[in-house]
Amino acid sequence: MIDLTVKIAGVTLGNPVMPASGCFEILPEQERVLDPAILGAIVNKTIFLKARAGNPPPRIRETPGGMLNSIGIPGEGVEAFIEHKLGALSALGPPLIISIAGNSVEEFCRIARIIEDTGKAELLELNLSCPNLNDGLHWAARKETLFEVVSAVTEAVSLPVAAKLSPAVTDIVEMAATARKAGAAALSLVNTFKGLVIDIEKKRPLLGNITGGLSGPAIRPLALYCVYEVYRSVDIPIIGMGGIASWRDAVEFMLAGATAVAVGMYNFVNPLVMAEVVEGIDRYLAANSFSSVKEIIGLAHRI
Ligand code: SIN
Repeated sequence: MIDLTVKIAGVTLGNPVMPASGCFEILPEQERVLDPAILGAIVNKTIFLKARAGNPPPRIRETPGGMLNSIGIPGEGVEAFIEHKLGALSALGPPLIISIAGNSVEEFCRIARIIEDTGKAELLELNLSCPNLNDGLHWAARKETLFEVVSAVTEAVSLPVAAKLSPAVTDIVEMAATARKAGAAALSLVNTFKGLVIDIEKKRPLLGNITGGLSGPAIRPLALYCVYEVYRSVDIPIIGMGGIASWRDAVEFMLAGATAVAVGMYNFVNPLVMAEVVEGIDRYLAANSFSSVKEIIGLAHRI
């Protein structure tokens, strides 16, 4: 028996595989392709305090090796989320990582407290890096704003906090170190890269919101590089993400230093991908004579 458990900020996950926020819908039981109970953690689509409509269509465009999205984080608001979804998510079994965002520092703190009071979340993921909102990216774009929001939330709640950072910065290590100094207990690396597609017939940007966030295998080496660099100098666990499409990709992220991995865009291509990643990691560990998945975290730095 190989030990697949990992620990993120004191939370034990049965295995290191989870969905990236917004990339996995929990369907009614009879419609499920993948059993959510096999996941290391469940992550919701980022919620705000109030209901939001999201961005105008078109919202998605397939690109070479990836997907450009400008969804704009539509949602029902935190109270309706708690009323309609949280109970069902919590009943699935794996620990819940609740992704939140706010329009101000005060709003981030308010949502964090509301979620903490439900007693159902194990970890809060602060979405500080959505490139599709007017103000979505700026939290993680400057050290000052990043420090302000992360320290305010970590003071407001006792739940551990993971900061989801943007790759669109000059120095990702500096931003990761800032989040850690502000009290983040973990890092989610990385959110999407801002991109553009132009409709040459209409001669205008294709997406309703003009720009979008690029995800999928096209960004994998870029995201992997961020994880590798941050692991070297920031000593809090990393949830690695960015184009993971197979167990091999997940193993790469873990060897680079990720304690856990999140699968995003590829869930839309292969709804079974997360189960395949869990099984593939297990087989890889057995074939390489490891007894625990923890043994491979950051191993690429030691050789
Ligand atoms: C979106 O809903 O626009 C994507 C969320 C994100 O990139 O954080």
